[in-house]
This record gives sequence, C-alpha cells and structure tokens, in this order.
Amino acid sequence: MPRTAYVNGRNVAHRDASVHVEDRGYQFADGVYEVCEVSRGHLIDMAGHLDRLDRSLTELAIGWPLARGALEFVMGEVVRRNRVHDGLVYVQVTRGVARRDHVFPPAGTRPALVVTAKSTDPALSARRAESGIAVITVPENRWDRVDIKTVGLLPNVLARQKAKEAGAYEAWFVDPDGTVKEGAATNAWIVSREGRLVTRPADHGILRGITRTTLFEVAGRLGLQIEERGFTVDEAKSAREAFLTSATSTVMPVVSIDGSPVANGHPGSVALSLRAAFFDVAEKRLA
Ligand code: PDD
Repeated sequence: MPRTAYVNGRNVAHRDASVHVEDRGYQFADGVYEVCEVSRGHLIDMAGHLDRLDRSLTELAIGWPLARGALEFVMGEVVRRNRVHDGLVYVQVTRGVARRDHVFPPAGTRPALVVTAKSTDPALSARRAESGIAVITVPENRWDRVDIKTVGLLPNVLARQKAKEAGAYEAWFVDPDGTVKEGAATNAWIVSREGRLVTRPADHGILRGITRTTLFEVAGRLGLQIEERGFTVDEAKSAREAFLTSATSTVMPVVSIDGSPVANGHPGSVALSLRAAFFDVAEKRLA
C-alpha cells in the first residue's frame, strides 16, 4: 500500500507530495499545524485539536483552508487511505502561496493545506513508558507566543537534537528563574511531595496541550488533585514523579533530569495509572 498525502485538494503519492517554492510556510514559517493521535483506528481528541487549530489561525489572521467538517473528512480519509490503525495525522495550514514579501499576501490568496498520516508502533511507546525516559534542560529561547502552534520550530528542533545527543528523549525549556516551561514537543508535569499533579498554567508561555487538557479530566476520575503553577528544575528532581504529555507520547514517565534520577529512577505509579486510564476518557472518533 503506497503512502498518500493530501496537498491542496488532491490526494497524491507521498513521495511526490510537495508544496510550491513560494509557500509562505516554506519561506517564513508563516503557518500553523496540529498533530492528532490515531489509536486503534480512532482519531483521539480531534475536536480539541481542531478547536486549537482555529485559535492558532485566528491569532495569526489566517483563514480556514476548508470548512471544518470538510477538514475532518479529509483527516479521516488520509488515515484510511494510509491504513493507519495506530499512528499520527498531521495537519498544516499556511498563509498560502504568493510572491515573496513579508507583509500579508493580497486578499483572496488561499491558505495552503497539507494532511499526512503515518503509522507508529504502540508497543514501542509502551516499552518506553515501562522504562521511563530522560530529559535534559535548556534555556528558554523561544518567542513569547508559543501558545500559538506555529511551524516555526527551530529552537524546538535544536533542543530535541541536543537531547538526542545527550541520550535523552526530550528537552525542557527553562526560564532564567529556574522554572520549567515545557518540553520541545510535550508538556511537563511533576507529582509533588503532597501527591498533587503540578503543571505550569497554560498562558502565553506554553502550548495548551490537548493531552494536558484531557489529563485534567483523567486526574479527576482517579481522584487526583491538580495545581496549576510553575515548578523549578530542582523541585522536579526531588519530586515523587515527573512525566510529560503529548499526542505523540500520551503520558510518559520521566526518570531522569540532566542525569539526576527522579525519585528512585523508575516510572512512578501515578504517571502509569494516568497513562492506563487516558483512552477511557479521551474523545474517540472512528476514522
Ligand atoms: N507537539 N508543547 C509543545 C511545544 C508541543 O509542540 C506539543 C505537541 C505539546 C503537547 O501538545 P498536545 O498534547 O496537544 O500534543 C506541548 C506535537 C505532538 C509535535 O510537534 O509533534
């Protein structure tokens, strides 16, 4: 089964899928994206992802490339055409194709849309969760509107690469005062000494993760309390547990930070029970 991609109205062979050289996403990172998990043939929390896409587009004054219902259909179609049972669907919208000029293109320039889907191995993610992952910390060097999910991800790319070179899975951006913001592609959490879940408030300083939002509900079901506040790297190192959330990792225990073990250096029971309960709570839509 050859992979296909949806590019501006057409389903094309993935290897031939391309955008114009003057796509503003390519030239200016003038675009936004979403990554939605596919689990057992279901799109997970699609409504939340499309609500956030709407917010990102509105913040940047980019129009919807298609009506929302049509985009939902295309996402399902790309998942089906690529026979993705477990994996990810990627949606990217840019301000469109126009002669290069920093200011917005002429009215009537159509936003450009790309949708791709790929399979991932849930067993690999499960094994990773059983052993837990390592994070490193890096100084926050992003702009002040990281609440908008733009394709301008260079600091995130460099941070993730640094993590990889250090044998870690994720890098946490840290403010000058020592407070953890979030990961390069995940939200950051700890379980405090009092047993409460702690995560930074979702203001302009982090992306409001869809997994993070669903986890509030999961925590409620498990009778866990949440404190939305900043925490420092030192607090995380001496916390009961640490973990991260994203559509690509669900809930992933963190067992070391900058080489120091978190608690006993093994995944914590709270993170694992949140992970186990996640799909009971998340919205599931058959692809
Ligand atoms: N990243 N913070 C950042 C900076 C992110 O890029 C992401 C998602 C998250 C978690 O959001 P969510 O729970 O909605 O996936 C937090 C996606 C998965 C990516 O870039 O691949």
